[in-house]
Amino acid sequence: MKIRKAVIPAAGLGTRFLPATKTVPKELLPIVDKPTLLYNVEELVSAGIEELILIAGRGKTAIEDFFDVSYEVEELIEKTGKADLLKQVRELRKGLTVISIRQQQALGLGHAVMCAMPVAGSEPFAVLLGDEIMITPKGKPSGIAQLNKIAESTDLSTVAVIEVAKSEVSKYGIVDVEAVKKNLWKVKAVVEKPSVKSAPSTLALPGRYVFTPAIFKILQKTKPGKNGEIQLTDAMTALAKQEGMMATVIDAQRFDAGDKLGFLKANVELALQHPELSGPFRAYLEDKFSKGR
Ligand code: UTP
Repeated sequence: MKIRKAVIPAAGLGTRFLPATKTVPKELLPIVDKPTLLYNVEELVSAGIEELILIAGRGKTAIEDFFDVSYEVEELIEKTGKADLLKQVRELRKGLTVISIRQQQALGLGHAVMCAMPVAGSEPFAVLLGDEIMITPKGKPSGIAQLNKIAESTDLSTVAVIEVAKSEVSKYGIVDVEAVKKNLWKVKAVVEKPSVKSAPSTLALPGRYVFTPAIFKILQKTKPGKNGEIQLTDAMTALAKQEGMMATVIDAQRFDAGDKLGFLKANVELALQHPELSGPFRAYLEDKFSKGR
């Protein structure tokens, strides 16, 4: 299989980040100087993905606008010789077709993915959660590129997993797996936010997936599960049983930017890697902590 399309579900309500997300979509909150969404777009473009299917919701038009040409700003920066500031966004825009679909009601992640069906059609596709950031060092394949490689060689749906502490399992979808070889597992089932007692493992889903189109038919039949939402994890269990599914830990720094602490960590880490800010920011932190305040 060849992965040419990616879906970014970005229609959630972002309640963990209120009041910031009352009018600003969490996918547009900046991590240093770029919106969360842009990190995800960079990740998928560097994996050779050509088509992005954005799942947006009510109050999220700013996300769709982000991919348009902003005439006023762009004309102004051309005139003032600051065009470099938008160079990166312009480059990304060139090679990527962006299609936006509305999820009219936030009925769950499974439902959001199902909204991509008319466009994704009969092709395998990647899914990147709009509020999860995966950072890989320069020169290394991006998070989703690492996943695509396994999906393309096994011809199976493939999902990223991370090892979490036992006390954390109830925050994630957790996989029940069988080891195949180093860093490759066969997924038997997926459980949505299990209790510590009932968790089948400590391997959690951080929000990167590759699915065959069979997931759509399964999602159409999936009944609302935990919290009354159509759970992607329920459909994943059915897909794993029907066709098979692989899991791997991708080599990347991962941040849950939809969570306040995760968002702060992402800002600190990425500021420390930023070409202009790393020096002065590190100096500020060292000074601050050396004085114990
Ligand atoms: P989350 O559960 O993290 O998003 O869903 P949320 O519901 O927006 O956040 P909180 O918990 O209220 O703070 C993971 C991803 O799935 C998308 C979200 O936008 C997020 O990127 N999502 C979730 C949808 O697109 N539609 C949904 O119905 C639910």
